[in-house]
Amino acid sequence: LLYHKLKKLISVVDELRDVGLQQYINLPRIAVLGQQSSGKSSVLESIVGIDFLPRGSGVVTRRPAELRLVHVADDNAKPWAEFAELRGKKFYDFDEVRQTIDVLTDKIAGKKKGIVDKPIVISIHSHTCPDLTLIDLPGITRIPLQGSDQGMDIEKVTKKMALRYVKDPRTIILAVIPANADMTTSDALQMARDLDPKGIRTIGVITKIDIMDKGTNAKRMIMGQEVPLRLGYVGVKNRSQQDITDKMRVSKALNEEKLFFSSHKIYSTVPSENLGTASLTKKLTKVLFTHIKNYLPQIVKEINVKRKEVEERLRELGPPLPKEGAEKMQLLWNMVTEFCTNFKNTIGGRYISQQD
Ligand code: GDP
Ligand code: NA
Ligand code: MG
Repeated sequence: LLYHKLKKLISVVDELRDVGLQQYINLPRIAVLGQQSSGKSSVLESIVGIDFLPRGSGVVTRRPAELRLVHVADDNAKPWAEFAELRGKKFYDFDEVRQTIDVLTDKIAGKKKGIVDKPIVISIHSHTCPDLTLIDLPGITRIPLQGSDQGMDIEKVTKKMALRYVKDPRTIILAVIPANADMTTSDALQMARDLDPKGIRTIGVITKIDIMDKGTNAKRMIMGQEVPLRLGYVGVKNRSQQDITDKMRVSKALNEEKLFFSSHKIYSTVPSENLGTASLTKKLTKVLFTHIKNYLPQIVKEINVKRKEVEERLRELGPPLPKEGAEKMQLLWNMVTEFCTNFKNTIGGRYISQQD
């Protein structure tokens, strides 16, 4: 009889894991989608406000990077990072974080530009970032690079990799589109449209506005007149390759971006909510808020259903619980409590109460 009761308890714990509590705690997620060198890593870096991602012309991001941002309340605490592959070592130097991403990329994907779907998981603890998970992805690549480890199926590989992340309905998609290419042929926009036909979780980001052909401008793209998108587009100016070579910091780049748009004779006529990294972050927060709010009833319902089940089984079992069973039950309640507290403190506290 005791054995039977124990087995039942274990199955409850497993069921609870199956509902995916862990996943909900990781809410929300943002992933970048776009072709090679469209500026995906640059956009993420300016949102986070910390310089740490490898960027550059050609294939630079060759393993997905899952960046788990953890908000730290103490304003004086020095930001630090930790790699899942190198648990226990705290990185306070973010140049070293970037070098380590390169080392871990070469280690798994080889030195010959291979692209591998084995994510590098990094947690970043800082008072400057909200609790978010950002996914930096290798670009969608059509043709394998000459002399590289990329196979003929590179387009399929890179699309499948992106798909794995962006198909999750809780992931917000940043579709990154360079202004100096034809956006009507953008794979990113096409994929986003297939996965998010209602357009409720896709934000368009137009990069490289500063290096368009003379006499052309991105106003129509930014205003959604080329390809309409429900949540709209934001135009940004990231650091150029020269700026990267010169080691320009993100704070200086943000100032230059502001100056570029405000002093430009065409972009000064575009609504400010459609221009600049600050506007992008604002839009992102708003979209995240709505998105989480829409998911909230579903999450609460699932938890309540599970709680009722657990309570019923507890009653069925009746006290006293066998020692091992009690431990399992304690673990289970800890998980639920932790989830609820986490949700209230982070998502609830930061987004919901501000807007309601
Ligand atoms: P990813 O491959 O999509 O991650 O693109 P990266 O962020 O690595 O950027 C690719 C190259 O484009 C780098 O040399 C960047 O400096 C450059 N770049 C990205 N965005 C912009 C931009 O808005 N303006 C200019 N001038 N260069 C950019
Ligand atoms: Na690149
Ligand atoms: Mg990149």
